[in-house]
Amino acid sequence: MFKLYIFLFLLNFTVFCCNIETLLQGTFNRQISQYSNFSLNSVTFEKVVISSISANIWGDCYEKVETHSFIFGLKRIGKGTCFRCITLIPRSTNVIQSLHQNSETCHETVMEAKRSCFDSSAIGPGDGDLLFRIENIQYQSCGLEGSLFVEYSRINEMNLKCAIDSGTEMQNCDSKEELHFRFRNCSFPEFDQKLTCLGSWAAAGSARNENFLVLFDQDTRQYRCGKLSVIKNESQLIVAGDASCSKLESNNAFEKYRFITSKRLRGESLGYHCLWFKSRSNSVIEFKTTIIATEGNTVCRKEEEFAKAVWTTLISKTPKKSACAFFGSYSTPKEMQINDCYNLTVNCKKRNKFKIVAYHCQSGIAYDVKSYDCYGTWKEDENLFVYAKTQDSQNENVCMISRQQGDYLYLAILGNHCSRNFNFSENPDSVLVLKRTGKFSL
Ligand SMILES: *[C@@H]1O[C@H](CO)[C@@H](O)[C@H](O)[C@H]1NC(C)=O
Ligand SMILES: *[C@@H]1O[C@H](CO)[C@@H](O)[C@H](O)[C@H]1NC(C)=O
Ligand SMILES: *[C@@H]1O[C@H](CO)[C@@H](O)[C@H](O)[C@H]1NC(C)=O
Ligand SMILES: *[C@@H]1O[C@H](CO)[C@@H](O)[C@H](O)[C@H]1NC(C)=O
Ligand SMILES: *[C@@H]1O[C@H](CO)[C@@H](O)[C@H](O)[C@H]1NC(C)=O
Repeated sequence: MFKLYIFLFLLNFTVFCCNIETLLQGTFNRQISQYSNFSLNSVTFEKVVISSISANIWGDCYEKVETHSFIFGLKRIGKGTCFRCITLIPRSTNVIQSLHQNSETCHETVMEAKRSCFDSSAIGPGDGDLLFRIENIQYQSCGLEGSLFVEYSRINEMNLKCAIDSGTEMQNCDSKEELHFRFRNCSFPEFDQKLTCLGSWAAAGSARNENFLVLFDQDTRQYRCGKLSVIKNESQLIVAGDASCSKLESNNAFEKYRFITSKRLRGESLGYHCLWFKSRSNSVIEFKTTIIATEGNTVCRKEEEFAKAVWTTLISKTPKKSACAFFGSYSTPKEMQINDCYNLTVNCKKRNKFKIVAYHCQSGIAYDVKSYDCYGTWKEDENLFVYAKTQDSQNENVCMISRQQGDYLYLAILGNHCSRNFNFSENPDSVLVLKRTGKFSL
């Protein structure tokens, strides 16, 4: 008797235990009316909140059935609980496919509702409704990437179109999930549009590389289902008038896009840069670039456009050492020997290395030694630039700026790039002042 009681208790407990996985939890938008008569404004949404044990629109979760189905029971005043089997398939982190029988159909018991569950293997990737996450969204790439020429047409309004050579473009070079369209020279006034991708998943049963995707227009707050097929260097995208992917075919789509890889260089459609290169040694180059201009044929003509641009230094992967700019030995001059003292010595046999020893002036005890290999040196006005790497850490490139006045050498480390704004008199703390001690000279 006691055993039976335990058994019944356990049975009861397991029947009403349902745990909805984290992936399916959250706050979502679900489309509740379809677009009709090609009016996008007719589409409305409701909020769906799914927790680990219930959903606001379907009630408490009673049981998980197979991989993707759940029995929900919605308590109704004056009537029994409405049990339904809801199938929830995650299609991307932001999109959940949701299926159930006619929403009016209620079952009396959990068992009856269970029998109504769909066989998830028979569910097509575009069937049912879609739930779109509206909090903690992680936008994703939809598989359309780069800078592409666009052909556009409206299925039911043949006079709205853009030709492939119209200059209409799409690019997502900055972030893959944001598709920036520039409609130009079309049969309608030019305009720009940004569509964000919520996710994409394979559209089954196709030999072609076909995917469903969901685009969100942040300006109009519209969700649109699309189907993208990629054939060689061409992509075709059909987009539904609303957020529903079911029955989306090219004859009933709202609009159609064709994309062809832009032969131009990536990013060039954004504007034109002019690059100015200077070779500093066999292994080191510097370049500066102008700000982006929209016209390609006029940049590069005026040197003053580079006036405010900064130099960027590049070093080759397997750089060759070259002679350093200074030779001999240098030490902190007597009058400056107070706390920290420095010795700089250029290896007199291999003039492509130098060493800086830091030591306490009083004790003469060294506390830091750094050896540098030189890869490029050049002079600009009074400044001598040395591009070097420390021997212990091969990755650390440093640009040094220096000036020689008589026996004195002024030296400062600028960092990875050779900034031209360094002012010796304004930065006394970062300037090493050294005086020649050795006999080596030019
Ligand atoms: C669709 O819109 C057109 C023009 O606005 C109208 O003439 C037609 O009756 C509408 N059809 C339906 C089914 O609402
Ligand atoms: C506008 O498009 C037509 C083809 O539809 C093309 O011949 C023409 O060159 C385009 N104009 C510009 C400025 O891109
Ligand atoms: C696309 O590929 C086809 C065949 O490989 C080629 O004939 C065509 O010129 C290509 N189009 C573009 C825009 O690269
Ligand atoms: C620094 O250089 C001076 C003069 O060449 C030398 O006497 C001294 O020993 C050096 N100190 C260290 C720590 O290398
Ligand atoms: C460096 O700074 C000093 C003092 O502020 C100034 O007089 C001098 O003109 C500056 N030098 C350069 C090259 O800007």
